Amino acid sequence: GKNSRYLRGDATIPADLARVLAEAPGRVAIYFALPPAVTILACTALATLDLPKGLLLALEKPFGTDLTTAKALNRRLQKMLPEQQLFRVDHFLGKSTVLNLLGLRFANRIFEPLFSAPNIERVEITFDENLALEGRAGYYDRAGALVDMIQSHLLLVLALVAMEPPASVDSEDLRGGMAQVLRATRPWKRNGTSSRRARYGAGTIDGKRLPAYVDEKGVEPAAGTETLAEVTLAIDNWRWAGVPFVLRSGKALGEARQEILVVFREVPHLPTGLRGIAGPSCLRISLKPATLDLDLVINGEGDPFTLDRTVLHTDLGAGELSAYGEVLSSLLESDPTLSVRGDVAEECWRIVSPILAAWRKDAVALETYAAGSDGPNSWGRS
Ligand code: BG6
Repeated sequence: GKNSRYLRGDATIPADLARVLAEAPGRVAIYFALPPAVTILACTALATLDLPKGLLLALEKPFGTDLTTAKALNRRLQKMLPEQQLFRVDHFLGKSTVLNLLGLRFANRIFEPLFSAPNIERVEITFDENLALEGRAGYYDRAGALVDMIQSHLLLVLALVAMEPPASVDSEDLRGGMAQVLRATRPWKRNGTSSRRARYGAGTIDGKRLPAYVDEKGVEPAAGTETLAEVTLAIDNWRWAGVPFVLRSGKALGEARQEILVVFREVPHLPTGLRGIAGPSCLRISLKPATLDLDLVINGEGDPFTLDRTVLHTDLGAGELSAYGEVLSSLLESDPTLSVRGDVAEECWRIVSPILAAWRKDAVALETYAAGSDGPNSWGRS
């Protein structure tokens, strides 16, 4: 509109940043949507300037390129601005389905008392996409599925699934609760080998032929970048000890399954004489489409002593704002609740570090799947 101006400059050059700041009246928000290595340089340049009072600084994920760079970036940022003025953007925190976890868990009596190791066998958080590379090799080939999706987005979802009930949803309580549970989270096998990785080969999605990942423009085949990652994590606290949390995300898959699946344990004793399908109950929160399913075992139709399964299903309403809209609106209100706190960003890197190290050493094989399939044949999914 007529109130916007377009300036061109290099965000890593202090004079260029100073020029942008000089043109911005009122309270200023700077938003760096840059590759992490460039963000680090841009922050270094910004640190040399006199910053306007109340400046808000937003940074797109990934935050740093590993634990060391994330720590260094945090130290630099924390010297420049108070934490309340820093917005480490992660749009999953703005997804209404993700935020729904708070209402579902903490505004009902029926789930929260059951959300713990004695009642829950495992939790799966899956974000499979039909989308392939979409011309993003420059970024994605250096990140891969583990860093692009699990290190950031899915660990935050895990935090909301597993955190202790907060006293309020203000930024201190909510982000403090998320940080606490992430501090207790680690790879199931400490050496990072409770993980799998794969890369897509040529295939077909929705009738469209897709080339193999390694044949996409800009991909360096020798980099061994995975396009599908799965990790099993443990949470070392009283509530979750012994419960595996399986996080998985991949590109170019046949089915875009994007959900949180909570699998309850089998009953301690099924009354003798009840026949048919037993199997555990599960709660399924689908992020896209936004739905909620509770799978229960009931007495089936016909013979009342034969068990069957039924599903209580509801559609979850769309949020008023898109996920990014939600995050941007909290930025404009200078409310950091939906931004990733500095220590949380570091914890997320700490959790995946042993896995990245195991992959670098080839302790976990890089497998292959056909684009449009459900992943490598050997993986099999429940
Ligand atoms: C982004 C990832 O952060 O999230 C993409 O970089 C991914 O690779 C995207 O496709 C998924 O989120 P959404 O909300 O667009 O489905």
